[in-house]
Amino acid sequence: MLVTGGSGGQGSSHVRAFHAEGANVVIAGIDAERGAALADELGTRAPFTRLDVTDEGSWSAAVLAAESAFGALDVLVNNAGVQNPPATIEDTEQAAWSRILAVNLTGTFLGIKVAAPALRRAAGGAIVNIASTMGLGGTAHYAPYVASKWAVRGLTRTAALELGRDHIRVNTIHPGVIATPFIHEPAAGATAAIADFYSPGPFAVPRLGEPTDVTRLLLFLTSSDASFITGSEYVIDGGLLLGPALRADTA
Ligand SMILES: NC(=O)c1ccc[n+]([C@@H]2O[C@H](COP(=O)([O-])OP(=O)(O)OC[C@H]3O[C@@H](n4cnc5c(N)ncnc54)[C@H](O)[C@@H]3O)[C@@H](O)[C@H]2O)c1
Repeated sequence: MLVTGGSGGQGSSHVRAFHAEGANVVIAGIDAERGAALADELGTRAPFTRLDVTDEGSWSAAVLAAESAFGALDVLVNNAGVQNPPATIEDTEQAAWSRILAVNLTGTFLGIKVAAPALRRAAGGAIVNIASTMGLGGTAHYAPYVASKWAVRGLTRTAALELGRDHIRVNTIHPGVIATPFIHEPAAGATAAIADFYSPGPFAVPRLGEPTDVTRLLLFLTSSDASFITGSEYVIDGGLLLGPALRADTA
């Protein structure tokens, strides 16, 4: 399997879990220092490959590296993603818009495009695209991110239709707020982190999500237990999208 952003908060959790289950895992991403450190820790079944998901040539090299190392590639997790600095649509620079779309949407498109032939050579497999609960509604000040994650949904459904007869399933996971650097560190160009102003207190499961919450869902979606599931969307958000769970004394 290949996990993009494989040394990040959620990506490294996925890599560790699949590795522990006995899978061969390519840790792919732009963070060479963390990627190499994780690869060193896990050993030969988890090499690091430099991959900038916005670059088609980089994708070709990463998929080739996976096939060369392990003989086949049967699972792709399009996990790499970036957040925009908060700004209204009117105040959003086109460059910021383009950067977010390039990583979150074009990166996912290129991953499917380049990896699909490899998955076909492997006689089938699974692709999981990591979207967001922000891909299911609107969020003020996050237009580039919201738009990119909505678009991943359409891409996923289309890929599921195109690849299903080749025994390749394609699904999305929509995480809520997960405790990773993504929410604990300011996005590039921002001064505040999401965790500075977000509290899970009002919601049905009043805690931040953990990367392992998402990993467990990913393990299911890529397993044979999910062989009849494709083009589907899995929300994992502790009830965030339900809205506040009002208490009797405040309802
Ligand atoms: N943490 C959350 O609350 C949350 C919620 C919903 C969705 N998500 C999504 O989950 C995914 C993983 O995010 P995370 O929480 O682990 O954050 P993270 O910041 O820890 O990880 C993101 C990873 O993507 C990598 N990356 C960025 N640009 C890249 C590029 N051009 N090419 C290759 N890799 C690149 C980073 O190096 C990093 O390893 C992202 O797609 C994110 O949009 C996160």
